[in-house]
Amino acid sequence: KKILFVTSEAHPFIKTGGLADVSGSLPKALAELGQDIKIIMPYYQAIKTFSKVYVRCSLRIDNRDIKILETHMPGSLIAVWLIDCPEFFQQAGNPYVDELGNPWSNNAERFALLCQIAVEVAMNRAQLDWQADIVHCNDWQTGLVPALLSLEDNRPACIFTIHNLAYQGLFPSSVLTSLNLPGQLWQPEGLEFHSMLSFIKGGLVYADRITTVSPSYAQEIQNAEFGYGLEGLLSHHNERLLGIINGIDVNEWNPETDSYLHKHYNSDTLNQKQDNKTALQNQLSLPINNNIPLIGLISRLVEQKGIDLILDCLPELLTMPVQFVLLGSGDKVYEQQLHHLMDLHPGKMSITIGYNEALAHLIEAGADIFLMPSRFEPCGLNQMYSQRYGTIPIVRKTGGLADTVIDSIPETIANNTATGVVFNAANASALMEAIKRTLILYDMCDIWEDMQKNAMSADFSWQQSAKQYLALYNTILPLKRH
Ligand code: ADP
Ligand code: GLC
Repeated sequence: KKILFVTSEAHPFIKTGGLADVSGSLPKALAELGQDIKIIMPYYQAIKTFSKVYVRCSLRIDNRDIKILETHMPGSLIAVWLIDCPEFFQQAGNPYVDELGNPWSNNAERFALLCQIAVEVAMNRAQLDWQADIVHCNDWQTGLVPALLSLEDNRPACIFTIHNLAYQGLFPSSVLTSLNLPGQLWQPEGLEFHSMLSFIKGGLVYADRITTVSPSYAQEIQNAEFGYGLEGLLSHHNERLLGIINGIDVNEWNPETDSYLHKHYNSDTLNQKQDNKTALQNQLSLPINNNIPLIGLISRLVEQKGIDLILDCLPELLTMPVQFVLLGSGDKVYEQQLHHLMDLHPGKMSITIGYNEALAHLIEAGADIFLMPSRFEPCGLNQMYSQRYGTIPIVRKTGGLADTVIDSIPETIANNTATGVVFNAANASALMEAIKRTLILYDMCDIWEDMQKNAMSADFSWQQSAKQYLALYNTILPLKRH
């Protein structure tokens, strides 16, 4: 089958979060299952390319001359089509915000263009000589694709994956005119959401199937707490909604081969993990001590991730014999509060603000414990990376965290299935209790090592999930479309 995978970011070209990891690894898994898959995304200024980039074709849309460039996903034959529109995408900053962190003022136009071009490509009107059977869209930036395709005869089947329902692509209705969108899409049963233009509704209303990135999150978004006003639509259409857990790139995140590590290891050579702890302590100027539990965190610093719970815990936590290492960027208020605490507790805490791939890998390997107290988490990837690196995650019981971490209780410890520590309430005392429970387990060396081994042997590869996507594609292909 021919699949067009539409996304706003893909690792290793450009990444702000987990969507890039998924866009960089799920297509590979689908290609391994024999599918002809192409990725299409904008050609941002910040994109890194790894092989030749050449012009495949030019097209004119809305009085703009656009080029489609082609390159390849490193280590595979998968073609990546890059939409070259300098006016929209050749500015310094990330895919969504400028250098000061403000959303691009023309985001509606920028991502509408991504959608329009994806439709032209999918319908084989872009001189690429390739007609999609399936279009797989991801998050609000691609939401207009299913909407626009719904107006086409002989269109491909269409899947929309929700990676995060909190980001919806809402714009004033006046944008509708500047985007030149067909009027019939503007209705409460269409792109209209409380008099605003909603990109994500384009995906939810018009796609043949909606998926999200864990079974638990698929349930959660049908309730008001996590549905952000879209719970009614989602529960009404829940026969079209399916949760498929994300996999991880097990080659990229492999403690036996990871080139960012100081020492490679596996579950039989766990004692070598500590060389990475030493290297991490050394790099971050923390006292070198293998016996002190080192707690790591890598995250966008936003409310979703429960950073406020951590801030509330830190004063007590830092009186205990632990070290805390954080890598992230986001909300300036969180950044300031974290720096303030670091100044009060020298030698116990290290904060690195910014995006740093190498340090992220070293933290996964060098930490003993990984914190992920998210208020909600559609899937979450770091808790899976952690487990693969024998680093025990502490997670809140929500979304994909609930689906991928097995809590350490007497029964799971006894039958060797425990892989982490799970807590329920979204407050600092529940988190603190979970941390204390983890530190007790850490001191019970045999149990701890068993937990590390259980975690490291869990299968987080894409294999099963890619098969689920394929099965889903197969169920919608025979659908008759007008
Ligand atoms: P989300 O997509 O909501 O941010 P995920 O857990 O799905 O959360 O994915 C986040 C991804 O981004 C992970 O691969 C994580 O390691 C990475 N990441 C987040 N912040 C940073 C950072 N500051 N430096 C390096 N990698 C980061
Ligand atoms: C989103 C979610 C995260 C998920 C990622 C990839 O950014 O916040 O939980 O893992 O998408 O699907």
